[in-house]
Amino acid sequence: MFIDTHCHLSLEDYDDISSVIEKNREAHISKMIISGCTRDTIEESLSLTDTYPDVFATIGYHPSEATKTTDEDLALLEKQIQHPKVVGIGEIGLDYHYGKEDMEKQKDLFRKQLRLASISHLPVVIHSRDAVEDTIQILKEFPDVKGDIHCFSGSLEVARIYLSMGYLLGIGGVVTFKNSHLKEVVKEVGISKILLETDAPYLAPEPFRGQKNASCMIPIIADKLSEILEIPVKEVAFQTTLNAENLFDLH
Ligand code: NI
Repeated sequence: MFIDTHCHLSLEDYDDISSVIEKNREAHISKMIISGCTRDTIEESLSLTDTYPDVFATIGYHPSEATKTTDEDLALLEKQIQHPKVVGIGEIGLDYHYGKEDMEKQKDLFRKQLRLASISHLPVVIHSRDAVEDTIQILKEFPDVKGDIHCFSGSLEVARIYLSMGYLLGIGGVVTFKNSHLKEVVKEVGISKILLETDAPYLAPEPFRGQKNASCMIPIIADKLSEILEIPVKEVAFQTTLNAENLFDLH
């Protein structure tokens, strides 16, 4: 059995959510942690967790929402995280890929949500794109907060910094891409520091790269980790499930 620690499940991307979930179950996905990271998808995610026993959620405002997110949204988020199936705050973070015009707003939103994580003792799911230095610097302001560096794509050196701060690395389809440097990172950090994720509907693994992703692709990622680490896939499943259960308190 596997846990997909980070995916998106929304009518924006899938016509028939219940059949997607059914397929995921057939692929031995025991739990799906979906990420609601906009005003609408937060509501939608909470309602999906009410409908499906194996669906959990992390919620929080994505950095791309920085200019749109209001104090009212954040006050509501504080209430929404009390939902019994909310297991973390995220994805939150910094994204400078399309520019830095809203950098200060992104940092402010990031800090506010880290503060909320600290107060509520919830783990965080971090989205960091082209913003490693600022991400690390801000995370260091909240040493009691722990979490998942979602879709980790940095160097081994950066991986070691996050691990030393108590974070785990979310590894998904990118590790199956030809020439991905993540293979080397995975080999060095080992299975005890890794969370499996798809980031569906994005980032489908090879040989499905470019197609619509879903949690049922998790076994392909697990097979790749088994190959890189030279351990049985059973062990990948067991250890990554344990890592996810511990971080997100899924016992
Ligand atoms: Ni995501």
